Amino acid sequence: MIVLIGAEKGGVGKSTISSNLAVHLAHQGIDVVLVDTDGQATCARFIERREEGGIRPSVPCVQRTGDVAATLRDLSKRYQVIVVDAGGRDSREMRSAMAVANLLLTPTRASQADLETLPKVNELVSLARGLNPDLKAFAVLSMAPSNPAIREVEDARELLSQFEQLELADTVIRDRKVYRDALLGGHGVVEMTNSQARAEIQLLAQEFFEIDAPVSK
Ligand SMILES: Nc1ncnc2c1ncn2[C@@H]1O[C@H](COP(=O)(O)OP(=O)(O)O)[C@@H](O)[C@H]1O
Ligand SMILES: [Mg+2]
Repeated sequence: MIVLIGAEKGGVGKSTISSNLAVHLAHQGIDVVLVDTDGQATCARFIERREEGGIRPSVPCVQRTGDVAATLRDLSKRYQVIVVDAGGRDSREMRSAMAVANLLLTPTRASQADLETLPKVNELVSLARGLNPDLKAFAVLSMAPSNPAIREVEDARELLSQFEQLELADTVIRDRKVYRDALLGGHGVVEMTNSQARAEIQLLAQEFFEIDAPVSK
């Protein structure tokens, strides 16, 4: 299964969600590989820190740029789950990955400026489905205010209902310092003590992966 984490905007949590999903799936005994297609190499450096720290399980990471479709197809023969961190914007990496992915997750903050980039993603999904009709595509609210009194999340849900090609994931990833600390330390939040962040990543994985019965290679 090829899962693409991509968005029209930088700084929305793509690398954070990619790295956390990969680490969580690895803990579930799933054969997972992280593919970093972003020149900024956030995920590749995360994995380096993980290896330097001797943190287990180790998660393989591959760096590729340009047209990544063939690489992803090839990896999908060898791994159960391929988590692809797409570089920013409407990149070649994002477009080529969308042609072969099973699932696109688009992190977005619940702010107007971020939500305004979703029509573009919606259009890209529409194009990609011409080649890849089975592509599933969901927006994931990311870095949402952790204060439940703030209505931003509900407002975003309403606004998102108008995009034909994009559904909204049930799981919301909230703004929590532990996500920053974990990324810097080479850990997934499932390896940290913050139970709320841990639960968010577990719920996100449960929503999109059948991880109850991991299959061996
Ligand atoms: N849910 C979150 N809560 C707190 N900080 C976050 C969260 N998601 C991402 N961040 C931080 O925001 C910054 C950008 O996140 P990143 O995952 O690198 O975004 P992108 O890959 O989309 O550019 C990083 O410093 C990261 O640690
Ligand atoms: Mg990134």
